[in-house]
Amino acid sequence: MFETLPQPKLDGIIALMQAFADDPRMGKIDLGVGVYRDEAGRTPVMQAVKKAESHIVATQESKTYLSLAGDVAFLDAMEGLLLGGAVPNARVAAVGTPGGTTAVRQIAELIRRAHADATIWISAQTWPNHAPLIAAAGMKSRPYRYQDATTGMLDRDGMFADIAQAAAGDVVLLHGCCHNPTGIDLSVQDWADMGAALERTGAVPFVDMAYQGFGEGLNADAGGLRHLAARLPEVLVAASCSKNFGLYRERVGLAMAIVPEPDKAKLAGALAGLNRQNFAFPPDHGGRVVSTILNDVTLKHVWQTELEEMRTRVSGNRHALAAALRDETGSDRFDVIEQQQGMFSLLPVTPEQVECLRADHGIYMLWDGRTNMAGLNSQTVPVLAQAIAQITA
Ligand code: LMR
Repeated sequence: MFETLPQPKLDGIIALMQAFADDPRMGKIDLGVGVYRDEAGRTPVMQAVKKAESHIVATQESKTYLSLAGDVAFLDAMEGLLLGGAVPNARVAAVGTPGGTTAVRQIAELIRRAHADATIWISAQTWPNHAPLIAAAGMKSRPYRYQDATTGMLDRDGMFADIAQAAAGDVVLLHGCCHNPTGIDLSVQDWADMGAALERTGAVPFVDMAYQGFGEGLNADAGGLRHLAARLPEVLVAASCSKNFGLYRERVGLAMAIVPEPDKAKLAGALAGLNRQNFAFPPDHGGRVVSTILNDVTLKHVWQTELEEMRTRVSGNRHALAAALRDETGSDRFDVIEQQQGMFSLLPVTPEQVECLRADHGIYMLWDGRTNMAGLNSQTVPVLAQAIAQITA
């Protein structure tokens, strides 16, 4: 029966992970997959996570099923982290999902059930898995302009002109913070204007929050989402705890619908039903780690301190790389790296130059120049800057 089974076309991130693992060269540099690394190149288990896990192992008495939505303590703690009280709980329906990826998929399926004709608008540059996940859920996506190729900054006019074309009931996917792959985030004013644009069109925002805490800080990074939630009747959210809790392989995510109060029960039921059909009960361990941390004053402080260290290190790498590129190339065209935030920036290099970096220098970044700033350290910043100066000379 499998003679004609087509192989899936995996996105570039997965292919790059494999190519990097297969490369025998010492000194190869991984700037591909979005994983935080410390100065020594490790992705350590956070201390707050270790402590929470010890507590869970010592006190947990059962691993029997919870509800389809998952652990209420996790959902409540995440609601606090994401929304900060911007809307009452009576408007919030949420379920746990295996990672943020599944949250995106579940929300796309929810949209299909509600409004199969809707178009999901995605930024022209976006996470390589967004469009495939939306297509797999049976929905169509359409790009809106985002990064201006000349300035490397937000194409504000292009973005709002495109979003003005969204129909009522369409969905606009927005990155809550630390835009992947451009690192270009909306300002407070941009979020306010986005709220107004969505009000005018009647399109529904869908906020993907995968890097909360890596941009300006936990609350500032959620400011745009909170603004939309308070302003608009319906907001969809997919959130991930992979990066800010370092729980990558535990698969901790959440799908949320913020709706008018009378619709909450209907949305909670729909999201739970989708969980049942796709994987039944969400995994528990990682979510329990998150709620244990967020509900304990001391552990929460430890976690916030560790997260802040990570955020500062990534931002330091941005400044160091921009300075090194200025020195090596004698040009200021890379300066925007310092104004962008989060793990990624799109370096202005061609796919051929990316291939040259990989083949000749052992430096791995995505084909479009997406570079994981968290993968750099004081040794590799000059190596990357020199290599880029060489290939762009
Ligand atoms: C990335 O963009 O590299 C991360 O979000 C990892 C992933 O699942 O693609």
